[in-house]
Amino acid sequence: MRILEDARRDGVAAVHGAADLDALRQLEVMVLGRRAQVAKVQRELGRLPADDRPDVGRAVNETFEALRGAVAEREAALRAQADDAVAEADRIDVTLPGRRPPPGGLHALTEIEREVVDAFVSLGYRVSEGPELETEWYNFDALNFPPDHPARLTQDTVYPDVPGRDDLVLRTHTSPVQIRTMESQEPPIYVVIPGRCFRRDTPDATHLPVFNQVEILAVDEGLSLADMKGTLEAFARALFGPDQRIRIYPDYFPFVEPGAGVDVSCFLCGGGGCRVCGNGWIEILGAGMVHPALFENTGIDPERYTGFAAGLGIERIAMLRHGVPDIRMYYEGDVRFLSQVAGRA
Ligand code: FA5
Repeated sequence: MRILEDARRDGVAAVHGAADLDALRQLEVMVLGRRAQVAKVQRELGRLPADDRPDVGRAVNETFEALRGAVAEREAALRAQADDAVAEADRIDVTLPGRRPPPGGLHALTEIEREVVDAFVSLGYRVSEGPELETEWYNFDALNFPPDHPARLTQDTVYPDVPGRDDLVLRTHTSPVQIRTMESQEPPIYVVIPGRCFRRDTPDATHLPVFNQVEILAVDEGLSLADMKGTLEAFARALFGPDQRIRIYPDYFPFVEPGAGVDVSCFLCGGGGCRVCGNGWIEILGAGMVHPALFENTGIDPERYTGFAAGLGIERIAMLRHGVPDIRMYYEGDVRFLSQVAGRA
């Protein structure tokens, strides 16, 4: 009986002192397992005088029960402690101010495209669009490109492999929409045409195989080179600021006569000449008076109407506006770069 009393007292004390669940598991084996004192006494019961057996047997059971109870109690206490620790670690302060997810925004190129389109919309132009997959007729022939013009060569243009069709190209510029517009609308026509274009250009600091242009087309009675010049000057100043210097000079495109190029003074050196511009000027667009052949191809009377057209590259305009030295940066998807140039258009 004394052994049982000691086992009970020492066992309960040890169990209550268990520091964590692992220690408790070990103690449980020690005080309740096959080699525990109480288990040994239980095994010896048969060797006791018959009169003593009931009392000692009852004491054995009570000792087992007391020890099991102590283990269960300690286990519950330790589990509650562990739960409290988790709850403490997970505690949130609902009174703290929330964290706002950073707001998304328009891509810098989308901003520039909208600004260019808006500049012409505010002059009374309407937006027109055309397909990216074009026919050779619209992309070249109707625009007065001769059959042997170098722009048609397979090293410059993407000819998709479409069974049963050998006349399809990915448009190399937005100018085919000039033809589509003149076919479907009567003058006066004032349209601005944004769109994606494709060329077999190897990517470098100023070229991409997929890029964006904005085209304008005006067809009306009595339009002259002076109207074109005034319009393009107004546009360039709207986009680059009223102090921006502009120069217009002769250039060649088969679908305009005369043709012109427009330069703005360099954003980096202000016109003195530097490594970006060379001579102080940067080309922003091609333009010219609509060639009479286009009127003939679209059924517009060239004796009655004249017109002018222009086309510019959105990525190049963006580079000028942001002072970005490499066109590829706009397409790398680096949010650090994009958030620097966005909203600064
Ligand atoms: C044209 O595409 C003419 N259709 C423009 C035009 C329209 C002239 C109406 C007259 C009247 P050009 O090939 O120069 O012209 O291209 C126009 C602009 O597109 C270039 O100044 C440049 O800004 C942009 N561009 C051309 N190729 C690429 C390219 N690979 N990557 C990025 N931008 C390009």
